[in-house]
Amino acid sequence: MCGIVGYIGNSAAAPLLLEGLAKLEYRGYDSAGIALVGKPSEKIKAEKPDGCDIVSATPGAKANQGVIEIYKSKGRLSILSEKIRGGADLTANVGIGHTRWATHGKPSDENSHPHRSASGLFAVVHNGIIENYAALKAKLINEGVEFVSETDTEVIAHLLEKNYNGDFLGAARAAVSQLQGSYALGILCAEHPDEIIAVRNSSPLVVGLTDNGNVIASDIPAILAHTRRVIQLSDNEMVRLRKDSVEVYDSSGFPINKKEILVDWDVSSAERGGYDHFMIKEIMEQPQALAATISPRIGADGSIVLDGINLTAKQLAGFRRICIVACGSAYHTGVVGKYVMEKLTRLPVEVDVASEFRYRDPLIDKDTLVIIVSQSGETADTIAALREAKNRGARVLSIVNVVGSTIASESDDVLYTWAGPEISVATTKAYSTQLTMLYIIAFYIAHKLGRIDDRDLRRLLSALNRLPDMVAGILRQAPDIKRISQRYAYLEHAYFIGRNLDYAVALEASLKLKEVSYIHSEAYPAGELKHGTISLIEEGTFVVALACCDKLFEKTMSNIKEVKARGAEVMVVTTDDRRDVISEVDQIIYIPKTNDLLMPSLEVVPMQLLGYYISLARKCDIDKPRNLAKSVTVE
Ligand code: AGP
Repeated sequence: MCGIVGYIGNSAAAPLLLEGLAKLEYRGYDSAGIALVGKPSEKIKAEKPDGCDIVSATPGAKANQGVIEIYKSKGRLSILSEKIRGGADLTANVGIGHTRWATHGKPSDENSHPHRSASGLFAVVHNGIIENYAALKAKLINEGVEFVSETDTEVIAHLLEKNYNGDFLGAARAAVSQLQGSYALGILCAEHPDEIIAVRNSSPLVVGLTDNGNVIASDIPAILAHTRRVIQLSDNEMVRLRKDSVEVYDSSGFPINKKEILVDWDVSSAERGGYDHFMIKEIMEQPQALAATISPRIGADGSIVLDGINLTAKQLAGFRRICIVACGSAYHTGVVGKYVMEKLTRLPVEVDVASEFRYRDPLIDKDTLVIIVSQSGETADTIAALREAKNRGARVLSIVNVVGSTIASESDDVLYTWAGPEISVATTKAYSTQLTMLYIIAFYIAHKLGRIDDRDLRRLLSALNRLPDMVAGILRQAPDIKRISQRYAYLEHAYFIGRNLDYAVALEASLKLKEVSYIHSEAYPAGELKHGTISLIEEGTFVVALACCDKLFEKTMSNIKEVKARGAEVMVVTTDDRRDVISEVDQIIYIPKTNDLLMPSLEVVPMQLLGYYISLARKCDIDKPRNLAKSVTVE
């Protein structure tokens, strides 16, 4: 996700903003920028570096109007810092800064933040997604506003100007009232050079109080070097910062008192938001990641809004088969996708690992829809598979988390997951958001082909919309799962079994355990065990049975009895209506019930937690497991 900083005080702002942004680099980004507002400068910097936008006072500006200077650039923060010599000769004492993780619009100078309004009166930085930006942008264009970027954020800058009549706070409130989605904002106004306005709604934002002015930041690492005195803003709160005062307002504009807290984290703990590892932080972020990925795709009228897909109903009807290709966990989402898509679209769906697909002379052609799944968008085998598919005339639709990545840029259609940067090598929130994108594509195609009617679609989308809250509920079981996992910290082998969608999740559950705890683990179709692998089951063998597939529950229970009869210790994950399993197994993890097709999104969560906590008990290097890389860019 993006990073925001802001400073107002007695010192030069630019160096402090760059320092704060450097502390946010770990969050992942693709461009950076700062905006300053100061008294009218004697002269505007003559050597205007490229990618920099220095807006002198607008004609007819009031005497006290400041000058807004914006310096921004695609790429690493060091590129920006070099352009402005570390901010050495920028004297303004008020500014905002931003590191961008692209969601709308590829990484570029123009799409970098801060964005300014048409006249240069406002500059704004934003972390989050404005879900209704397209409608707002169309309206503003219709009113004659010219846009210079592809971002959703630029809409905010123009709304601020449109709603400004001299009252900075009032303009901010009026602009924000029109936004739908998630946003943390830092705003400058040329006519109020002694203030910063900041807003928080569903994206984190903190205020830091120092002896030398006040700061805002997306999270605490950016301010720790200057202060441990923090005010945590809540959703729909707005703050007006001056160098010697902080005023917080609620969503109705009434001033409120906020408690100041003293942060005792060290920097590395602060980067993980207080969690011990990025993996558990990202597991816990899944409700927000799911909501960010799902909600912009469901229109107000209950239809599916697919922003990155250019397929017409005729083209969709022309596909004779679908082929899902990916690696690792992304491949495991494809196994779920196969079951769900075939069930709903009645099209044959094949799923393959990219490293096999690319060399097996695959039977695909112009009547094949190839779906590529990748978090990084840079996995070498998956890129090669994409090119192989295109060479054979297939249509390629990709599900990617990194905007502008190689896979995204080479695909015919791209649907982004908005999980935010995933730092831990073991994927969790990206896997979960990839699942939801596959569900949405399945619903979309099935509905376009008339395989499901409006009522079915509404029912499925309603269940999809409930997933974030249901996952949040399951995450509250983390302490229990941590306690149970202590028992299995010394395993040498583990087996994950299930049928149908449960088997698809067993694949991911097994990989999660083995890649972070180094325990040998394998996933097996429960009905297949008796054809060989059951010979490995003996006294004390640990077996996890996923039994959430309603129609196959009794069959899976038979398989549980099979392994129990041979001495296995069995943990079962099942829905909370299945109270009859208690006597049959050793450990039970109950999860809520939802539409059968969406159960993978729920049952994977306790498995992510199990893998994490067993690895924690074994003191493994959880975020950077041995021999693994976050993105495998080699064959
Ligand atoms: C999953 O935990 C692993 N990190 C790995 O299997 C990963 O899913 C695979 O390498 C694919 O990566 P991608 O999604 O970035 O293409």
